[in-house]
Amino acid sequence: MNGGRASLPVRIASIAVLVLLAGCRVAPPAAPAHVFAHGAVAADHPAASEAGAEVLRLGGNAVDAAVATSFCLSVVRPYSCGIGGGGFMVIHVPAAADGRPSRQVAINYRETAPGAVGPDAFVGRAADASRIGAHAVGVPGSVAGLLYALEHFGTLDRETVLAPAIRVAEEGFVIDAHYVAAVKAVGTKIDEDPRRLDDAGYVWRELCHAGDVRPGDRLTNPRQARALRLIARDGAFAFYRGPIADAIVDVMKRRGGPITAADLAGYRVDVTAPLRGRWSDYEVVAMPPPSSGGITMLQILGILDRLDVDAATTDHNDTEYVHLLAEAMKHAFADRSRWLADPAFVDVPTGDLLAAEYLDARAAAISRTSTGAPMDYGTGTDHLEDGGTSHFSVVDRTGMAVACTETINLRFGSLLGVPGFGFALNNEMDDFTTIPGAANAFGLRQSDRNLPEPGKRPLSSMSPTIVLRDDVPVIVAGASGGPRIITGTLQTILNCLWYDMPPHVAVEVPRFHHQWMPDRVYFDERWADTGVIDDVAGIGHETARRVSVGEVQLILVDDAGVHAASDTRKGGVPAGY
Ligand code: GLY
Repeated sequence: MNGGRASLPVRIASIAVLVLLAGCRVAPPAAPAHVFAHGAVAADHPAASEAGAEVLRLGGNAVDAAVATSFCLSVVRPYSCGIGGGGFMVIHVPAAADGRPSRQVAINYRETAPGAVGPDAFVGRAADASRIGAHAVGVPGSVAGLLYALEHFGTLDRETVLAPAIRVAEEGFVIDAHYVAAVKAVGTKIDEDPRRLDDAGYVWRELCHAGDVRPGDRLTNPRQARALRLIARDGAFAFYRGPIADAIVDVMKRRGGPITAADLAGYRVDVTAPLRGRWSDYEVVAMPPPSSGGITMLQILGILDRLDVDAATTDHNDTEYVHLLAEAMKHAFADRSRWLADPAFVDVPTGDLLAAEYLDARAAAISRTSTGAPMDYGTGTDHLEDGGTSHFSVVDRTGMAVACTETINLRFGSLLGVPGFGFALNNEMDDFTTIPGAANAFGLRQSDRNLPEPGKRPLSSMSPTIVLRDDVPVIVAGASGGPRIITGTLQTILNCLWYDMPPHVAVEVPRFHHQWMPDRVYFDERWADTGVIDDVAGIGHETARRVSVGEVQLILVDDAGVHAASDTRKGGVPAGY
């Protein structure tokens, strides 16, 4: 960071952020600009950004830094992501001096359904069975995915990249309002039904300190430090076959859950080509299914292109911009609902959904003065979609870039912890269609294509994205926030590339969201211009407020340096050198 020596562009950007934020309904903190000369990490907790930056300063590359950041997030944001969860990583490897061309790869380490789980796994079970307790848990993929990335794309050893996370777990980290809110949410769930303590007791005591937490408190997690030391020493073996696997299987046996030793030993990372799309002068490199993020963002961009929406024709966040973007979102989320699922199990018509003629037709169906009924969007369907997620972006001095989004689904996942090892197990099973026709925790309805099957990965909204120009990363972005990940990430990219906002402004300004069903435009609590909300309602949209539309971490690279922004909505601060 350029510390007190703010350059002219940085000072101008800081003035711009104050002007742009001045009218917000809830005044956000004026985020400072962070510009680094060599490389940066934008994570949603300062200690995690610093863990990655420490590894960059040691000479590690972007993947080394990403792995260090992720393991540290497992400690400091244990309700968002961690070794009990899964994720997606998109990597850009720059062209090498020896003539090897650049390449991009997508690493899918999403959780899988256990072998004993079928399409009717949740039929006849308690209404919260896919959200709380042992049946909610998918086989975790994070440790396998991170160690795969390190082994194939990193340069440093496990001990070195895990060292910052272990140190933070042992020496402690300061918790913020976001952590305390997550603890309160668990307390509320337990108050609603004290029997939930049978599942949640360990997480409530070990990670929530029985609710006795305040912003500024310093927490340690020596038990997770023990797990991380085992992983540093023995690699994936420790988690999938060794003592941590034994502890997971033991929890499953005690709580009647389906994950077996064979499920853990059989977990495999899926390495695949990212989804690509041309957009203006850029190439968008995004996550393919089972993420819905890439297809949904590319559909929205394609429709906006056809409607001639851009900075030359539309003011940022004016009524026309909100209406047309919301209409494009409605089409794309309708298709998400009907068509998207794990391509290893069902045929996902990616090419058809992104075909020029198809997007022409969707754009032509949009009225500039009215909105239609939900059934008129996408290919026509009768369905819908999906918190506890964390995104970080990394760029190193060579131009290598990593966009990584990880999750344990809802806050503290299934609330089921792994005694002895200080972490919570995900509740990713709720991202499947658990009961046909019913919405999941994010209000998303999804099709039968997304029913659980042994080894299948649930549909996700996680949208790690790299935008290239002339084969060089200009933006590395993504978000947390369920379906708002997609719309929040996309709007922030548009804020930078269309509206020329510096990243710390682009991330902080208000956003809106439409996910087809509920058929409603959501404005985040920072949205000040109630006139626009009234006008959008006048066009026929139902409108509502919500706390946020995703929490975005974004890096922009230009001639002035590496500009990193972490969303103050979640208390993030970037780091670099
Ligand atoms: N668990 C949130 C997502 O994957 O979309």
